[in-house]
Amino acid sequence: RALLRRLWKGDASARMLHPRLQKAMGAYLRANKHGVRFRGRRAAGRSRAELLCALRGRVRVRTLDGSEPPFSALGWRALVPAVPLGRLLPRGLRTCAVVTSAGAILNSSLGEEIDSHDAVLRFNSAPTRGYEKDVGNKTTVRIINSQILTNPRHHFVDNSLYKDVILVAWDPAPYSANLHLWYKKPDYNLFTPYVQHRQRNPDQPFYILHPKFIWQLWDIIQENTKEKIQPNPPSSGFLGILLMMSLCGEVHVYEYIPSVRQTDLCHYHEPYYDAACTLGAYHPLLYEKLLVQRLNTGAQGDLHRKGKVVLPGLRAVRC
Ligand code: C5P
Repeated sequence: RALLRRLWKGDASARMLHPRLQKAMGAYLRANKHGVRFRGRRAAGRSRAELLCALRGRVRVRTLDGSEPPFSALGWRALVPAVPLGRLLPRGLRTCAVVTSAGAILNSSLGEEIDSHDAVLRFNSAPTRGYEKDVGNKTTVRIINSQILTNPRHHFVDNSLYKDVILVAWDPAPYSANLHLWYKKPDYNLFTPYVQHRQRNPDQPFYILHPKFIWQLWDIIQENTKEKIQPNPPSSGFLGILLMMSLCGEVHVYEYIPSVRQTDLCHYHEPYYDAACTLGAYHPLLYEKLLVQRLNTGAQGDLHRKGKVVLPGLRAVRC
């Protein structure tokens, strides 16, 4: 509770986390599994306007386009969708919703508000059926991690969750963004199921995020944070928020920064409890959320009651 209030105000620190989470963070820092070497400069203390300006200048949504090896030699130029992700949605999208999978969205009755947006982004295996009242039923884009594509429990090939939506997949690559190394040794091999899915469903827009986009966002989080953040990719949630900030006029994010309904229930759709889902262990989630808190233009009451943050689209940002 104390941590939640600090998060709402934007002055939380990892030192306030449960010792178990602090220990896990320390282990990830020492392991540095993805070979992160931060070469940027810390710029903590930027105002919201300065932050937005930095984001507008630096954030370029990038997906694999098949033009670089090893993908170029594997015929990926013809395999990936002909229309790039950035040009797929109409430019006139006014407001978009990003709906996280946090357990705190249960009993929120936010469904109607969420569906009123022009486009709705959801994550991984988060369902709408049976939860419409709280999460709505419209899905425009779904961001999926490489485990969704590879773990048989998700039935990626025939589950209706992954049909009739724009799919955006990602996998943790080395910080160097060496595509050869990544192709040989992805965290989970998403490449084979991606190729198969593209061949069988050529009309469904389906992209893989470029590692440069992912690590660029990591650099931005570290740059704007006083503490040393976990050297692991940002969560799907943060990737989705920045994706929608690039595509929409305004982005409404639900239950990323928790509301008064905060709970250890990891996902609204499964009975699994772990505070790490909300505050982070592998992902630098606490720091992502502190950064998003600084960007919030919405009302403080909406943050507390709805767990809602309102962010300007990057196109509208004037520097
Ligand atoms: O767990 P999963 O990655 O599928 O959830 C989607 C996103 O929702 C996460 O990447 C995270 O950003 C956000 N989330 C959260 N708190 C939770 C569960 C998910 O902030 N309890």
